[in-house]
Amino acid sequence: MQSLFNDSVTILGLLGALVILILTAFVVSTYLNKMKHSKADGVLTQEEWDGIKEFKNDLPIGWAAIFLCVIIWALWYMLIGYPLNAYSQIGEYNREVNSYNKNFEAKWVNLSDTELTVMGDNIFQVQCSQCHGIDKSGIDGKAANLNDWGRKEQIVNVILNGSKGMNFLAGEMIPIAVSKEEAQAIADFVMAEISNAKVSGDAQSIAKGKELFAINCTACHGVDGKGIEGMPDFAPDLSKYGTYEFLQIVLSKGKNGHIGKMPSFDYVNFNEVQEKALNNFILSNE
Ligand code: HEC
Ligand code: HEC
Repeated sequence: MQSLFNDSVTILGLLGALVILILTAFVVSTYLNKMKHSKADGVLTQEEWDGIKEFKNDLPIGWAAIFLCVIIWALWYMLIGYPLNAYSQIGEYNREVNSYNKNFEAKWVNLSDTELTVMGDNIFQVQCSQCHGIDKSGIDGKAANLNDWGRKEQIVNVILNGSKGMNFLAGEMIPIAVSKEEAQAIADFVMAEISNAKVSGDAQSIAKGKELFAINCTACHGVDGKGIEGMPDFAPDLSKYGTYEFLQIVLSKGKNGHIGKMPSFDYVNFNEVQEKALNNFILSNE
């Protein structure tokens, strides 16, 4: 309590409060007094509202003068003092951001494969490694091991073990009843002829895979593997498998699958360069 009064600011504040208190008491008592004793005088206007009338008072000079001044100042401020296209910090900031974005886009438009992989690595470590691990291997099964993803090995896995969780209309892809060799042949065919990645493979195996694909896969993935016509959301378009466009699907849909749940990344709004970069990194052998 003592130290409170050692502080000059506090003392000033308290003094101010005291002054306001005294003024308030004075003003209130003056008006109370007036209400009790003074009688109405002066000229009344014609108007009357429920028995209440109004005195005819001139506009106070000071008030009128200030009112006019404010109007003049407002006009001056809008037209001269602060013209709409004059310098502003926000304007400068916006111009800088625009030119920076242009440079940024120009810089990243033609990245080499290695540069994309490095960029993808950086994005992956920030956005994905907490589940998939810094080496993409899925931290002992906590998330998908991505070292096979987008490749023939993963197609074999999917054929033998099924896949679910991306919310396609066909629902779940159940394990398909084929042998491991047959699955391998189908994978060879899908990567060589259906996927836009066009990964070459053994010609004999591809031919065998083509037959097996027609029997086992077209019911859901369509005759050409691009999905059922008119129902783009029935099952994934396998021509995208192994390219960044398939990653776009995964990132947008998320995956509530066998292992666990991966959220949709729509909220991050990756641009195409970033998606290509991520895909490059996942498909790289780093
Ligand atoms: C019963 C319908 C159905 C059949 C038959 C089917 N699939 Fe699928 N396939 C799906 C669905 C649905 C998905 C999406 C699964 C998901 O949500 O993860 C899918 C996903 C896939 C994927 C992507 C998997 C992933 O995890 O990203 C591949 C590759 C695939 N199918 C290949 C095949 C091949 C090859 C065959 C034939 C051997 C086949 N599918 C048969 C419905 C089917
Ligand atoms: C919250 C944890 C989590 C994060 C963060 C995460 N994932 Fe996943 N991801 C998973 C899980 C779990 C699966 C496996 C789902 C299943 O099949 O059960 C998966 C599956 C995948 C698959 C395989 C999908 C398929 O076709 O079957 C890809 C590709 C993938 N993630 C890429 C990414 C990328 C790229 C990022 C970063 C932008 C990322 N994930 C961030 C948990 C995560």
